[in-house]
Amino acid sequence: MGVLEKEILAPVSGTYNLENYEAIRETFSWDDAAKGLSFEKTGKINAAYETIDRHVDEGYGDKIALHYVDGDERRILTFKEVKEKTDLYARVLRDNGVRKGDRVFVFLPKTPECYISILAIIKIGAIAGPLFEAFMEEAVKDRINDCKGTVLITDKEMVKRVPQSEIQSLHTILDVENIENTVYEETAADPVEWVDLEDGMLIHYTSGSTGKPKGVLHAHRAVIHHYVSGKWVLDVKDDDVYWCTSHPGWVTGSVYGLFAPWLNRATIVIQGGRFKAENWYRLIAELKVTIWYSAPTAFRMLLSQGDILKNYDLSSLRHVLSVGEPLNPEVIYWAWEQLGVRIHDTWWMTETGGHLIVNLPAEKIKPGSMGRPFPGITVGILDEKGKELPRGSVGQLAVRTPWPGLMKEIWGNQDRFDAYFKYEGWYVSGDLAYQDEEDYVFFQSRDDDMINSAGERIGPFEVESKLIEHPAVAEAGVIGKPDPIRGELVKAFITLRPGFTESKELLEEIRVFVRNNLAAHVAPREIEVLEELPKTVISGKILRRELKEMEILRTKKSN
Ligand code: PRX
Repeated sequence: MGVLEKEILAPVSGTYNLENYEAIRETFSWDDAAKGLSFEKTGKINAAYETIDRHVDEGYGDKIALHYVDGDERRILTFKEVKEKTDLYARVLRDNGVRKGDRVFVFLPKTPECYISILAIIKIGAIAGPLFEAFMEEAVKDRINDCKGTVLITDKEMVKRVPQSEIQSLHTILDVENIENTVYEETAADPVEWVDLEDGMLIHYTSGSTGKPKGVLHAHRAVIHHYVSGKWVLDVKDDDVYWCTSHPGWVTGSVYGLFAPWLNRATIVIQGGRFKAENWYRLIAELKVTIWYSAPTAFRMLLSQGDILKNYDLSSLRHVLSVGEPLNPEVIYWAWEQLGVRIHDTWWMTETGGHLIVNLPAEKIKPGSMGRPFPGITVGILDEKGKELPRGSVGQLAVRTPWPGLMKEIWGNQDRFDAYFKYEGWYVSGDLAYQDEEDYVFFQSRDDDMINSAGERIGPFEVESKLIEHPAVAEAGVIGKPDPIRGELVKAFITLRPGFTESKELLEEIRVFVRNNLAAHVAPREIEVLEELPKTVISGKILRRELKEMEILRTKKSN
């Protein structure tokens, strides 16, 4: 491949839902864009209705809505079947006292029941809180307690990780198996609750660099954003088989694993089980996946497995997308050479509710760039005073408010919400970036201590707080250490309490302590004992940045 082609990859010829980016940017309005949704005609909105029931009412009930694959297990559900199941779950929730605005959590593995539960909650006007399947007691407890969840849908295995006695607000735990076995009269009333565009529908907990995870609340209006970005960025068409590898406990798994593809009537793939390269390739070949949305860490793991992809027929893939962390150009070239597809990077955040910076399939991509602003979105690169910087300068990546996917609030915390809007008219992301003359945006780093490991956002404070609960740990500072596969890995620097001596066993015990209480993905992969931690002179706050600089310097030296 020539140098120029390597720098700027031209689109693969084909027909795409959005053919002309420049033209649409001139004329774009969110109202026009929402025209395919039914509330534009009826004036009645419910995100779950738009996502599933609408297709049944429009005559697509028999279309396959999902393929479920886990090991040797295979299941298929049509849109009509998904609708009926969400109706059933919705009725059970109502009968258990759930009302509009209540917070109902879902703690399930990646199964059809997990997706159906989320939709059922939203269908009756309640707010769905999907939890990541690997969470341990403390992570589950903190989240449900924060927004006073009243009901939880889970299963016999995962309920073991729900410390119900420590969650006062939680009055009911429903086992999916029991829900499935409930029978209603065929004449039971339609459970859909019509709501307002501004009513809450989904709450995702996410980490910042300080404090406990924050509850990011999204309103029903977000489906406008999900629908349009699904149409143009995911480029979903009727004969597509779409697979997003993320769990609905993360915003990618809910917005682009459930809402966006189903709002566009895609047949989706739900795959259970852990990451294994062979299984992933086999799944693409078996189900003839055409659109695939995953994360750089997963692509890097596949790349590191070398030639095994030659054993599978992956020719069905026509559109591949990435999100969550910087996508290295090497990965793009690998996919181009080995799979014959471009990987389209996308940038957004839990708080933004949908894509903001994208690579559209009909446009050229520049490896190293996250793409250009979605139609209707204006990006600004700001200095410390909130003034826009010229093209090419690195500054704070900000976006002009509002847009439909933008979060409605941070649950119960106005100050943390306001912190995103410190400059009039802008949402400030916390990322640093620059934009070139052709509008392409290039990510540089975070502007805070947030850690991004394998595309998962990890707050150092939460990990530090857990570490110092261990009897041997006096103080802790947690950072992201650069890592070739995971982007960053969680590294903890600790000091020990008097009477404890460093040993391999002790460090392992501390690591397992975090893993068993919070979640495996946040447990430090490395723990290093120091005599003391660097701190600010006045407030005595631990200086994570110094720890990080020290670590980066050492890595450079050893290479
Ligand atoms: O730092 C950016 C990084 O992930 C953060 C958002 O994390 P989260 O809310 O968990 O959402 C992940 C997926 C929506 C951002 O502030 N990030 C996200 N996408 C990219 C990225 N960094 C580089 N390139 C991306 N494409």
